[in-house]
Amino acid sequence: MAVSQVPSTAPAARPVDVLILSGSIRSDGYTGALTRYAAESVLTAGHRPVLWDLGKDALPIADPAYHRDPAANPDPTVQRLVAAARRADAFLLATPVYHNSYSGVLKNALDSLSMTEFTGKSVGLLAHGPKLTAVQACDHLRIVVRGLYGLCVPEQAVTTPGDYRTQESGAVQLGSDAMRIRVDGLVGAVGKLARR
Ligand SMILES: Cc1cc2nc3c(=O)[nH]c(=O)nc-3n(C[C@H](O)[C@H](O)[C@H](O)COP(=O)(O)O)c2cc1C
Repeated sequence: MAVSQVPSTAPAARPVDVLILSGSIRSDGYTGALTRYAAESVLTAGHRPVLWDLGKDALPIADPAYHRDPAANPDPTVQRLVAAARRADAFLLATPVYHNSYSGVLKNALDSLSMTEFTGKSVGLLAHGPKLTAVQACDHLRIVVRGLYGLCVPEQAVTTPGDYRTQESGAVQLGSDAMRIRVDGLVGAVGKLARR
């Protein structure tokens, strides 16, 4: 029997649970559109996305009393976030650039979690801004993810308004093929690291 005819005994690749945090409270803005495409990309790659819109599903100000044990926080939204983060094998963190960095709502979400939820899990970074200086938001997030003991993949996706198109309904969509391919590559890298 030729090698190519030998039936594969490799187990089917395991789907990865990916928690996507959208760090803009403008759900219909660019970061929202970027994360909606990222969720599609996660599905296409055979994984399972959970998209958490921090505008619609807002968290209270992170309470340091629960720093060591976020699951003990009595707030039901925080409890749902902690449960989603514990279920996740991987994360995608998306943010608009705010004052040369990432948004406060995203930091608040990360401060509502702990190393327990992130240790050893793969993380992909996405940012949006009027200019490519939004790259800085990803640079800053890398340091934060290191503090949480997450593993950032080197790939990242940084968009500017030219990467989007506005539909007749007014909805914003990630329209650039090059950027979609970039997001797909990021998702692929995050999935691969999570399966290692
Ligand atoms: C508080 C705040 C700070 C901002 N800081 C910057 C900045 O430092 N550099 C920049 O290019 N744009 C900055 N912007 C513009 C946002 O990045 C831009 O409006 C972006 O589209 C917001 O993303 P969104 O559509 O997902 O909400 C800032 C906006 C806000 C509200």
